[in-house]
Amino acid sequence: MMPKPAFIKELSLPVIAAPLFLISGPQLVIECCKNGIVGTFPALNQRSSEGFEEWLIQIKSSLEQFEKETGKKAAPFGVNLIVHPTNPRLETDLKLCIKHKVPIIITSLGAVSQLVDAVHSYGGLVFHDIIKKRHAEKAADAGVDGLILVAAGAGGHGGTINPMSLVAEIKSFFDKTIILSGCISTGRDVASALQMGADLAYMGTRFINTSESKAPKEYREMIINAGASDIVYTAAISGVHANFLGSSLAAAGIGEEDLKKDVKIDFGKELDTEAKAWKTIWSAGQGVTTIKNVSTVKDLILKLKEEFKNAIQEQYAKLKDYPKA
Ligand SMILES: Cc1cc2nc3c(=O)[nH]c(=O)nc-3n(C[C@H](O)[C@H](O)[C@H](O)COP(=O)(O)O)c2cc1C
Repeated sequence: MMPKPAFIKELSLPVIAAPLFLISGPQLVIECCKNGIVGTFPALNQRSSEGFEEWLIQIKSSLEQFEKETGKKAAPFGVNLIVHPTNPRLETDLKLCIKHKVPIIITSLGAVSQLVDAVHSYGGLVFHDIIKKRHAEKAADAGVDGLILVAAGAGGHGGTINPMSLVAEIKSFFDKTIILSGCISTGRDVASALQMGADLAYMGTRFINTSESKAPKEYREMIINAGASDIVYTAAISGVHANFLGSSLAAAGIGEEDLKKDVKIDFGKELDTEAKAWKTIWSAGQGVTTIKNVSTVKDLILKLKEEFKNAIQEQYAKLKDYPKA
């Protein structure tokens, strides 16, 4: 069995706050790391590589200052890079990650061994997200340190496979770090992810409803009012399947007929880029069902820790009900 990265045991909770397009920035990342969980953001949340470097400097200096002032260790932070020919900034942004020794790089779409080697050269880790076995095998061959298993119901470009099957399938050939993603919104969910065999839980939608996220008020309210069945899985917005809040689709005038076509809608000039589309049509996972408030990251993590401990203790206590097990 491959040893797991040392930082995992230093976290206050085995959680990575997932990168969220248009939603996560330095404030969210810094608060997560100060409170003992991994904070992350997509490099593309800044419009330019110069802006991206400014964020890296801001995050690093805030966390250094926190460590100096409190004597506590901050959790590592991560950056999400889209590894695809359509991302013209990849090379420059990767160079900046190397320059600033970003502890964790989260790659989406392509898993490339040169990138993995470059990150390893300064002691960084690469986690790659996948929705199926074939992608996981390719990433394993590229030498990534961990796989993020994006299961059915996840926010953003969610997968279609049940998390239990996905974890079992990937663990059968990959013995490095397993990170489970999809509908993890409570401390009990985090405990369940570990129970299934994951090393870390990856939480996205839950962090939209924090004071430090960049989401507009109406987006957060829509999450509070939504249930799992209000989430629509469609390729009509991105050209690739993703989960969206049904009410935001309706508000943008996108009807069931458009969604049935399962190909990207021609939005014309109005919503011509991915950023413009995602600004109007809001993504969230089926985990909305247990999100009933907006709180600071600090308060959310305190609540998650309490729920996590209670869930594990409750389950342990159940052993006595099954003496024959
Ligand atoms: C609004 C939104 C934006 C997202 N943007 C990104 C992104 O830019 N890069 C990425 O790798 N994943 C992105 N994701 C996926 C998340 O990183 C994560 O896999 C997912 O949110 C986990 O599922 P959950 O939302 O059910 O917790 C996004 C998800 C949401 C909800």
